[in-house]
Amino acid sequence: MRVGVLTGGGDCPGLNAVIRAVTRKGITQYGFDLLGIKNGWLGLVEGQVVPLDLGSISGILPRGGTILGTSRTNPFKVENGVGKIFAQVEKFELHAVIAIGGEDTLGVALKMSEKGLRVVAVPKTIDNDLSGTDYTFGFDTAVSIVMEALDRLHTTAEAHHRVMVVEVMGRNTGWIAIEGGIAGGADLILIPEFPFDINEVCQLILKRRERGKMFSIVVVAEGATAKDQSRITQTSEKDAFGHVRLGGVGNALATEIEKCTGIETRVTVLGHIQRGGSPTARDRILATRYGIAAIDLVKNGQFGMMTSLQGNKIGMVPIAEAIAKRKTVSADLYEVARVFFG
Ligand code: F6P
Repeated sequence: MRVGVLTGGGDCPGLNAVIRAVTRKGITQYGFDLLGIKNGWLGLVEGQVVPLDLGSISGILPRGGTILGTSRTNPFKVENGVGKIFAQVEKFELHAVIAIGGEDTLGVALKMSEKGLRVVAVPKTIDNDLSGTDYTFGFDTAVSIVMEALDRLHTTAEAHHRVMVVEVMGRNTGWIAIEGGIAGGADLILIPEFPFDINEVCQLILKRRERGKMFSIVVVAEGATAKDQSRITQTSEKDAFGHVRLGGVGNALATEIEKCTGIETRVTVLGHIQRGGSPTARDRILATRYGIAAIDLVKNGQFGMMTSLQGNKIGMVPIAEAIAKRKTVSADLYEVARVFFG
């Protein structure tokens, strides 16, 4: 039996750990043939494949990125994309496809599964905003990177008595900002779920000064907005899934803070540093568990399903359930962070 594996959407640390686990168990325990599909759904449309054997997965556990490459290709936006996928599936005699991705990649997986493709999904996104699972791999690494950045920014902020605004990823949800901010001791965390009031932000910074703390660390998710305002984008161009490129809220916020508080303010945009490099131990373990569960789902013929983490147990949910709505930061968790504001 031949099984194809693809990684789609934004990369994240842990993708290689999933590929390794799927391949290792698929070959050694089930006697499957594994085929790597290059560059997400694009590779399946165009027939870009590489064999996956025990040699090709050797040494990849600690490596960031994905040995298969990725893309944000939406086959439903490619002329006869769906027909081309089924032609490749037939040509390479693929019994099933394991799609590792976030809401866009898995949205395609769901539609393809409804059209008859035997597909199993693995949840991936540093944003951690997929429903149906408590955590996606890559998120823990991103949070650790934010935490370390905040630790470093504390010392320079304190030395210069400045406000440091730190822009982190999080297109629609503030998971990285809230967990990175709590772990790194942020004095303010602004996330898409709870639009902010710039006057309140400035008041909190000034009050902190009054109690003798002469610096502030403000974490802002790239998708956060001020009340009654829209998101700040870099371009109005949309990708194949209809997303605009975000970025710029950190700078806009810093300008406002400097204006209303009179305090020197600097901005750090962490950007793709949050997605690069080696996965944390937690992400390696979660990704490995997902990979093992995914190949088991293929073996058991449980298609249209996504591996998921519920508590500390690995289970499965229908892909449809995972992408039906976004998992957002709760008011309870935001209240925990808020205790340390100002
Ligand atoms: O979806 C994951 C993510 O990292 C978002 O947080 C971010 O907005 C986006 O991808 C960035 O995408 P790109 O790699 O295309 O710049």
